[in-house]
Amino acid sequence: MSAQVVRHEDAAALATAVARALLERLVAVQADGREPQVVLTGGTIAREVHREVARLTPGSGVDWSRVVVWWGDERFVGPDDPERNAGQARADLLDRVPVDPAKVFAMASSADAASAEEGADAYAALLETHGTDAFDVVMLGLGPDAHVASLFPGHRALDVAGRPTVAVHDSPKPPPDRISLTFDALARARAVWLLVSGEGKADAVARTLATPRPQRHDVPAAWVGGTEETVLHLDRPAASRLP
Ligand code: 6PG
Repeated sequence: MSAQVVRHEDAAALATAVARALLERLVAVQADGREPQVVLTGGTIAREVHREVARLTPGSGVDWSRVVVWWGDERFVGPDDPERNAGQARADLLDRVPVDPAKVFAMASSADAASAEEGADAYAALLETHGTDAFDVVMLGLGPDAHVASLFPGHRALDVAGRPTVAVHDSPKPPPDRISLTFDALARARAVWLLVSGEGKADAVARTLATPRPQRHDVPAAWVGGTEETVLHLDRPAASRLP
């Protein structure tokens, strides 16, 4: 993967820096007269970033009513399940900034769709109707097994092409049923930012950046990247196995 690596002292510093960068990017896209399209993800470090984005929003100049919000993946659980990425992002960020609810596109919960497959299809339709040809910023966490979104090593979801979403079952990270964007959809990103914190991710980081590029089924994270930039935001422990 050809990526820029940005090192931060710790998770808190990472969250603050990424939040600032996101707000600046949103302002810049809006200054260009476009509505930014942002893709959120789940996980611990993403939650910290979301909270920082909310905290730093006042005075940032971002007009949240003109930001379009998507998710890279979702846990296919009930609408009020605390595991739901959309619920977490609402609590951490979206309920704290003046978004236009009509521009926030959560993936289906198990109350909205009979199966993760049906939810994945519904999200593909939403992307078709309300998406554009490119996401401005896609934020992704990284698993210790080098998964991103809900694209796990060895899973058949890694082979899905020609459509933007996929249902995932038997996820090694609970809960087992999920909906994810595919590599094809993630490839629409202008900017991909991987947010990675902790010693437990150090090996996955090193494998993601290895040359030659590892197999997609071994290191899914090595196969995502933005058309304009790919940035790995690492805290010191996550970067500890890099030269
Ligand atoms: C999820 C994810 C997943 C996550 C990584 C990193 O819903 O679980 O979207 O891809 O971002 O597993 O999560 P942590 O930051 O909690 O390790």
